[in-house]
Amino acid sequence: MIPLELEHAVWEQVYMVAPLTIVGTREPDGTYDLAPKHLAIPMSWQDHYGFVCTPSHATYANAMRERCFTVSFPRPEQILLTSLAAAPRCDDDQKYALQAIPTVAATKIDGVLLDNAYLHFECELDRVVDDLGENSLIIGRIVAAAVAEDALRDSDRDAQEMIAHSPMLAYLHPGRFAEIVQTNAFPYHVGFKR
Ligand SMILES: Cc1cc2nc3c(=O)[nH]c(=O)nc-3n(C[C@H](O)[C@H](O)[C@H](O)COP(=O)(O)O)c2cc1C
Repeated sequence: MIPLELEHAVWEQVYMVAPLTIVGTREPDGTYDLAPKHLAIPMSWQDHYGFVCTPSHATYANAMRERCFTVSFPRPEQILLTSLAAAPRCDDDQKYALQAIPTVAATKIDGVLLDNAYLHFECELDRVVDDLGENSLIIGRIVAAAVAEDALRDSDRDAQEMIAHSPMLAYLHPGRFAEIVQTNAFPYHVGFKR
């Protein structure tokens, strides 16, 4: 084993598997912001969902002000749209690249979601954990969720075939992504209980 130098971020010295989501928030002018987040996972077995955000990002200020946000899970073929959501802002503080991203309106909160993503969450802000170094953890409660028909788990469908038919997107930080096509059943121990 090679010891890692902790004066440099561990995350920059290895690859790590993460989801890749697009978080949507409402801007002060009534338009909607979208930004990719890979530090984003369920925060409980109930309906908490959280993502790590830098307070200098508009997403953080928008979520704090509006008390809600959306989460879209892009498909692998939407990787360029996902990248567009991280376009730098122009001198007038606008992110014009967002105009190229097709969206649909949220149903229960004031927000938009990525059209044709395989999973949508609408969240109300639950709590924020600040001062995680330069970052904060924004946790919401899911108040509405919707899944594309081809991505819905169904005990009558073979899971491997279903995922092969509708591949999932993974982000391998830093700077790589993978299309998950081939999957296997987890070898649970006999008698395993959650
Ligand atoms: C693949 C990818 C993953 C990202 N993941 C995160 C993340 O987990 N947390 C974060 O704060 N920023 C993340 N970012 C950076 C921001 O989302 C990005 O800088 C965004 O443009 C900020 O926009 P905003 O100021 O409109 O919120 C990521 C960017 C990319 C390209």
